[in-house]
Amino acid sequence: MLDDTQLCAELLRYLNAPRPQPCGEYDQVREMLVCQELMSSLNHDPERQIRILDVGFGERSVFRLLVSHFNDDRQRLAYVGLDSSIDAVSRARLVFEGNSGGWHEPPVFEVGDILADRSPAEDNKFDFVFLLNTLHEIPAHRCIDLLTKLVQKTCSNGRVLIIDMVALPTGQEELCAISWSAQEVLDLAKAGGFRASVIPIERAVSVFALEIDGESSVPPPETDAASAILRTKLLSNLDRLMRARAEITTQGAVDNEQALRLVKILGETAITSDALRRLERGGT
Ligand SMILES: C[S@@+](CC[C@H](N)C(=O)[O-])C[C@H]1O[C@@H](n2cnc3c(N)ncnc32)[C@H](O)[C@@H]1O
Repeated sequence: MLDDTQLCAELLRYLNAPRPQPCGEYDQVREMLVCQELMSSLNHDPERQIRILDVGFGERSVFRLLVSHFNDDRQRLAYVGLDSSIDAVSRARLVFEGNSGGWHEPPVFEVGDILADRSPAEDNKFDFVFLLNTLHEIPAHRCIDLLTKLVQKTCSNGRVLIIDMVALPTGQEELCAISWSAQEVLDLAKAGGFRASVIPIERAVSVFALEIDGESSVPPPETDAASAILRTKLLSNLDRLMRARAEITTQGAVDNEQALRLVKILGETAITSDALRRLERGGT
């Protein structure tokens, strides 16, 4: 039993302890899960070569983890990174210029939109397809298309791994973002016909991880259940999207890429005030 002084000391220690920031916790979870998955796959069959697709690799690509943790396994790993940002791709090519030798195939960093009709690496299949911290940037109404694309790129015995933050830091760079919970993505994936499950992460509060089996049927049937989940998600985020649009229009304060994305989301979903009122009344 603690006396009052000890209790105060414990409380103070607790209050002063560094709390994981959402980004910090995300980074730790991503590193742990990705490395764990790759290691167990490499150990499981020592002869096997592993092909990786990293969708939306951005500044903190899976390739960074390969360089820092899997240097001795270069012969067994092939990496393709896909990102819609030309800047992200140029930077990655520069950063990793000196690290392109010795891999099963030279690493590839491609500019491309995963949602486009034909994206780079279209005909290739991968053992791991990673979507890390990128789901929140995909317009909600395109999420089933996204899952379909990811599964189409996965070998039948491979897996899609999605990790994201449950709540996103606020700030202009996240204006158009829509955050998801593990349960929402799981419900959506199942409603779309995918074989999905949540990966339990001990003690993590701000991050979720979900996997989809490469054997999921492709293309999945577009179901009413999936449409209903998407509609609810969109409606619950509409306020934020509309506020963001107002902010952009009045202050002109965001960079072009962000503004264009928002205009695209609102345009594609035809969210005018009339359409919104109809949606809220339950019409189409
Ligand atoms: C927040 S960053 C995530 C970076 C990294 N994967 C991580 O775990 O930190 C999201 C990235 O996804 C990219 N992105 C967004 N939508 C995309 C799309 N439709 N196709 C490909 N990349 C996309 C963005 O350009 C950005 O670099």
